[in-house]
Amino acid sequence: MMSSSAWFSPYDPSRRVGSVINVSPSEVKANLSDAGSGEAKWHLGDRIPAGEVNEFMFIDCGQTAVLGRLVHVWLDGAERLSVDAISMDNGLNNPIGIIQLLTSIDPASGAIFRGIKSHPRLGSQIYSAHPKLISTLAEGDSNDDEIKLDIAELPYDSTVNITVTPDKLFARHCAVLGATGGGKSYSISRLMQEVQQNGGKALLLDPTGEYADLDCETYYVGDHEKANSENSVIFPHWKLPESDIFAFLRPSAQTQSPKLSSAILSQRIARRYYGKYGEIKVNENHILIKSNQKKEPVNKALNFIEKDPNSKRWCFKHLAEQIVQECVWPTGKKTGPYPQEIDESIWGAASDGELGYCMSLISRIKSYSENQHLKWLIDPPDGKDIPTLLDEFSASRSNKRTLRLDLSAVPFEANGREILVNAIGRKLMDLARNGSINHRNPLLVFIDEAHQFLNKTIGDEASAINLDSFGNIAKEGRKYGLNVVIATQRPRDIPEDVLSQIGSLIVHRLTNYHDQEVVKRAVGTMDQRSASFLPTLSQGEALLLGIDFPFPMTVKMKKPKIKPTSKSAEYSIAWKQEYKVVRSPIVDYLDIPNDLIHDFEVLDIEYLSDEGSSGDMTYSYYFEIPSDTSEELQKAMGWSIGEFVRDIPEHVLDNQTTE
Ligand SMILES: Nc1ncnc2c1ncn2[C@@H]1O[C@H](COP(=O)(O)OP(=O)(O)OP(=O)(O)O)[C@@H](O)[C@H]1O
Ligand SMILES: [Mg+2]
Repeated sequence: MMSSSAWFSPYDPSRRVGSVINVSPSEVKANLSDAGSGEAKWHLGDRIPAGEVNEFMFIDCGQTAVLGRLVHVWLDGAERLSVDAISMDNGLNNPIGIIQLLTSIDPASGAIFRGIKSHPRLGSQIYSAHPKLISTLAEGDSNDDEIKLDIAELPYDSTVNITVTPDKLFARHCAVLGATGGGKSYSISRLMQEVQQNGGKALLLDPTGEYADLDCETYYVGDHEKANSENSVIFPHWKLPESDIFAFLRPSAQTQSPKLSSAILSQRIARRYYGKYGEIKVNENHILIKSNQKKEPVNKALNFIEKDPNSKRWCFKHLAEQIVQECVWPTGKKTGPYPQEIDESIWGAASDGELGYCMSLISRIKSYSENQHLKWLIDPPDGKDIPTLLDEFSASRSNKRTLRLDLSAVPFEANGREILVNAIGRKLMDLARNGSINHRNPLLVFIDEAHQFLNKTIGDEASAINLDSFGNIAKEGRKYGLNVVIATQRPRDIPEDVLSQIGSLIVHRLTNYHDQEVVKRAVGTMDQRSASFLPTLSQGEALLLGIDFPFPMTVKMKKPKIKPTSKSAEYSIAWKQEYKVVRSPIVDYLDIPNDLIHDFEVLDIEYLSDEGSSGDMTYSYYFEIPSDTSEELQKAMGWSIGEFVRDIPEHVLDNQTTE
C-alpha cells in the first residue's frame, strides 16, 4: 500500500499550465501559456514554476495520469522578441515545451504503473506537479511503518523531503558516482549517519581518513598518528591466500613461482616442527634444510600441515633464506659402493643456476620485510587482526553497529592497499557464505574512492591476479544480506558485471562522456534526456535513480550532520597564513620590512625616555642600536651600531618595557 494519506488530486485548476499539441511515444509537445511571462506564478503560498526546465508535470489522460518532466521550452519565430522586455512590451506569446513522459499513475490514489499505460491525446490538459505529490511518488509503494531514510530534498523546494526505504536504496547495492567535488563523500556521510540513526549495521572503508569525525568505532591500519595498541589492526600475511602473496611478491612464472610456493610450505613446516623435528632438519635460523636430506619425512609433514588448521602460520622474514634452500637439485647421489647412481629419496646439492634465477625475488622479499610501512602485513606484532575483528563485528550478538576502518596510513607501494581491501572483501564474502552475515543480520559496506580498489589486475601477464572480491560481493552478496555502497569518481572503472548488479545510483555532477555512458548502460531507466542534466548539477545535487525508483529525479542531497573533512589543499588560506605577519606598533612605526622583523625582534633593545629640558615630562623615547643588530637590518634601515634612534612616540611602545 502506498502512503495514500499524503495523496491529493494532481488536477488543481490553479496549477494548469497548458495542453498537449503533439504526441510521440516518449515525449509530447505542449503549449505552455504561462512559460513566457518571465516569472513563476504563485498560488496559496506555493510557487508554480509553470514552464521551467526540469519541472514535473501531470498530463490528464482520463483513467490514468502521466507524470512527465519538462526538458525543453522555447518560443517560435518572431514571438521570441516578445520576452525582450526592453525592446517591446511583454506581449502575448505562445511558448512550446517538450515534456518527457516518465510513468503512468492512478490520479486518484497515486499508485504507480511502470511505463506509459495510455498516452495523452491532443488537447490533454497539463498541470504543474505539486512538490508534495512528487515526494510521495518518489517514495513509491512503501508502507507507512517502514523505516525511511531522510536523504534528500527537492532542489527547488527545500521544504519537500525525499525519503527512501533502506531496502530500495541498499538491497541491490548502491553506487554514489560523480566527478570530483560533486558531493560524493558528503552523500556517503549522510547515508552512514542515516543508517546509524536507524540502527543499521555498517562497515566503512575509509581510504583517506576524511570520515575521522564520524561517531563510530574506528580502527587504524598501519602507522597512523592516532593509532595506539587499542585501535590498531593488522592483517597478518599468513592469513592471506597464496595468490595474494604472489600478487604482492610478483614471482616469475617459470622458476620463481614454484620456489616461492615450496618455500612457504617449508616455512610452515619449520614453524610447526621447531624443536620436535624427528628426521626433519631445521637449522638454528629456523630454515628447513633440504640439500642432501631425505624427502619422505618432509612430505609426510606436508600432508599433515595441509590438513591442520593450526599450521597456517609462517614467518616472512625467513622466506628469503628459505628460497635459497629450495634451490637444490631434485635428486641426490647414492653413497657407498655406487656413488654415481641417482638417489630419488633425497634432494641433491645446492643448485647455483636456480639460485641465480631467484635472486630478484629474494631481494624483493628482503626489501619488503624491512619496509616499516608494511608492518601491519608482514610479520606484524601480535595484536587484533582484521579477520578476527570482522568475525566479531558480523556476529549477530555484536553490539557494535558501525565500524570505520581507516586505511589512510596504508601505503600505495607494492599494491598493499588493493590487496588489503580485496582480502577484506574476501573475508566478508566468507562470512556471508558461512551464514554469519545473513538476511536477519545484514551488513552494509561503504567504500569511498572505490576506483582505487575495484577492477584492478595486479602483477604482470604471467602472474596476473584479479582483485575481484568486491565484484563477487556485488554478484552474490545480495543472496546473503551483504551489500555494498561504492563511491567513485571514475564510473568507467567499475567492471560492467559489477555495475549491472547495482540497483540504485546517486549520480552527482558528471561531465565525462564515457562516465555518462557507463551510467546510462547501467540503468535502463536513464535515457539521454535525464543524462543531459548530469553536467549541470551543482554541488550536492544528484540524479537519484534505480530499479526500485519509479522515475529518475534530480534531488538535492542533504548535508550530513557531521561533515567529512575534505582533504584537498586550501591554497588561499594556507598562502594567506604564510604572509599574515604580526606587526607590532613599534615595527610599524619604524617601518621595518617584513622579512627583517625577526632580526629586529631578537634584539634586546632598551627604550629610554626623553624627558626634555624640564626633566619632569616624557616627550618621547629613544634607543641605542645594539651591537648584535644584523647587517641586513642595519643596511635596510640605514642604521649603524651605537647610533641612537630618537623621537619614538609613547603610544607605539605601549606593550614594550621602557624605563
Ligand atoms: N549535499 C550538499 N549540500 C551542500 N553542499 C555540498 C553537499 N555535498 C557536497 N557539498 C559541497 O561540495 C564539496 C565537495 O564535496 P565532497 O567532498 O563530498 O565531494 P566528492 O565528490 O567526495 O569529491 P572527491 O571526488 O574529491 O572526493 C563540499 O566541501 C561541500 O562544500
Ligand atoms: Mg570524496
